[in-house]
Amino acid sequence: CSASNSATGDRAADREAPIASRPPAAARSVSAATAGTTGIGDPYFPGDGNGGYDVTRYALALAYDPRSKHLGGSATIDAKATQELSQFNLDLHGFTVSAVTVNGRPAQFERHGDELTIFADLRDGAVFKVAVAYAGTPDPVQNSSNLGSYGFIPTADGAFVTCEPNGAKTWFPSNDHPSDKATFDFTLTVPEGVTAIANGELAGTPQTKDGKTTFVWRESNPMTTYLATMTTGKFKVRTGDSPGGIPVYAATDPRFSNTLNTLYDQSARITDYWTTVFGPYPFKSTGGVVDDFAAGYALENQTKPIYGGFEPDEGIIAHELAHQWFGNSLSINRWKDLWLNEGFATYAEWLWSEHRGNGTAQQSFEDAYASATDEIWKYPPGVTRPHDLFNASVYVRGGMALHALRTEIGDTKFFPLLKKWTADHRYGNVTTEQFIDLAEKISGEQLDDLFDAWLFKPAKPASVR
Ligand code: ARG
Ligand code: ZN
Repeated sequence: CSASNSATGDRAADREAPIASRPPAAARSVSAATAGTTGIGDPYFPGDGNGGYDVTRYALALAYDPRSKHLGGSATIDAKATQELSQFNLDLHGFTVSAVTVNGRPAQFERHGDELTIFADLRDGAVFKVAVAYAGTPDPVQNSSNLGSYGFIPTADGAFVTCEPNGAKTWFPSNDHPSDKATFDFTLTVPEGVTAIANGELAGTPQTKDGKTTFVWRESNPMTTYLATMTTGKFKVRTGDSPGGIPVYAATDPRFSNTLNTLYDQSARITDYWTTVFGPYPFKSTGGVVDDFAAGYALENQTKPIYGGFEPDEGIIAHELAHQWFGNSLSINRWKDLWLNEGFATYAEWLWSEHRGNGTAQQSFEDAYASATDEIWKYPPGVTRPHDLFNASVYVRGGMALHALRTEIGDTKFFPLLKKWTADHRYGNVTTEQFIDLAEKISGEQLDDLFDAWLFKPAKPASVR
């Protein structure tokens, strides 16, 4: 058939020249077999991510002007083809794309909604580099899950950038799904006096020239796209090392400057404590950012959770820092497993309270059990709903599920299980089935009934202990 002829033709062309500049789509017959898919295969968000390649690194060189709210620059993406490709997609919401190159050569591209399609012939297994030049005014996402707006959100003095679940596309072209993790380099230019905060660590002292300052940040461990940030604005910054020796970066908007030392101290102390409970800290630094922002929510941005518009207390800092293990080092493959992030982070709040002598996890469990609404019992957290991702059940009943497990298998099995879980899947992707398998292996118990009751049945399980 013509499809396979054209595929053979493409393969031959590849051997001569891996990348060819392509004629416009209308003048071309595209082989469906060699087009990367427009989604990565998550039934909850069919348009998110893309098929046909894996990203290994994003290098974002971007300038943002808080006055004009103009963002522009380039995204250079290192990737590997996982099939033969004639075209592939990136997720990008808004902006004007001015040029795309693949392996340094100009490539044709098209825009359809939030998909940027790039035409290039690549062999299965080919390592390639895509550079996208783009600019415009970021337009945050309003329409997924129950979060209101998220993504790149301009503020009075900069931008508040929180992208879970799929808001990375509001500021850079990406394979915007947690199953494709990559390292990140950020070269961020802002007006002098503005601080640009990204993930990982600063590479050198920010340089100022002609009224603009450039901050170079590097996240050298794999990261999901939704954890990437370029939060900008006026900030007071404190850096140092935790008592346990982990570098700390804490920053607060001037409106919250009285919370800078508390943020710094608690982030340092809690990160150190979690290493004793969850295993070695997965990243090269820890910290936190408090920005002035209308909607009071937080996100576990890798190495630097962000708190919007409130002074975080120990509980929420414990939650966001627990995510550095559960969610960030170990990331979900599919959004339906979100309890692996939020249930664990909620249980971590109860463990922190227990550690501080402010009520045991059993007491937190009992309080949560007694005050849970019918909605929580009707909604089993093991299968998160796509349009209600951050439902209370995913957090609270997810946390209760872990307490029920701890009670069943005992502390001598439960805590080693947590450490083995984080060690086995460090920097990787995980599923609920893998967690259940490991829990059964370590405990030597058959745990289907327990997990069915707590994660999968739309009914209220019996209380524990
Ligand atoms: N993962 C966050 C937390 O529980 C909630 C999601 C926030 N998402 C966002 N775009 N702000 O800490
Ligand atoms: Zn959380």
